[in-house]
Amino acid sequence: MRIELEVWRQDGPAVEGRFETHVVDDATPEMSLLELLDRLNDQIAAAGGEPVQFESDCREGACGACGVTVDDVPHGPLPRTPSCRQHLRAFGDVRRLRIEPLRSAAFPVVRDLVVDRSALDRLIEAGGHVDIMTGTAPDADDVLVGHDDAESALDFAACIGCGACVAACPNGAAHLFTGAKLAHLALLPHGKLERGRRAKAMVEVLETEFGPCGTYGACVDVCPAGIPLAAVAAVHRERLRGAFRGRAD
Ligand code: FES
Repeated sequence: MRIELEVWRQDGPAVEGRFETHVVDDATPEMSLLELLDRLNDQIAAAGGEPVQFESDCREGACGACGVTVDDVPHGPLPRTPSCRQHLRAFGDVRRLRIEPLRSAAFPVVRDLVVDRSALDRLIEAGGHVDIMTGTAPDADDVLVGHDDAESALDFAACIGCGACVAACPNGAAHLFTGAKLAHLALLPHGKLERGRRAKAMVEVLETEFGPCGTYGACVDVCPAGIPLAAVAAVHRERLRGAFRGRAD
């Protein structure tokens, strides 16, 4: 089938970008968005042009590396599905797509569809981890975690760090991403030990590098991991908890 594409081209962070129009004549319904871009790049390369730069790794919805904006929607028209799992067969009669990078002030364009998401790395660096000395691995039965807490922690840990939540937010907030880490670690014994310090450090980066949360919920609609809005509440809860306790942990 014939798909007309408007694709964002930008040679570098400081260079003005523009849309380029291309046609892929031999697209198939089974193709994913990324496979459509692969096909387009085959055509461009065969004609001696510069292929469109985009990111991918696992191509099965696990790594968070992919992520483009399709017709103004981060990842694409299928809700809660990463770009690598958006297949043309699900787009109905649509035969024209506009593909551009994830758009957010926190994600400057590196080239074409590739953006710099290192602001998310700085959030993780600030507190999205456990860095206490645990010694040798304890017997699993020594540190018990309730079933409900374990299930909830796993649900929040499902975030793949794609950044679509930030791109979908009219304010460019990263509260869903940050709250997923805070909620996940606050539920587990080792994470609880640094809870106050973690919240303070992550919220500082959150407020410095991203916009304020307006609780619009647009983030939830595009999240491939199904992180709930409760993660946003976790940011406020953990921040207040740290302030009232008045100490690091
Ligand atoms: S390439 Fe890994 S989630 Fe899409």
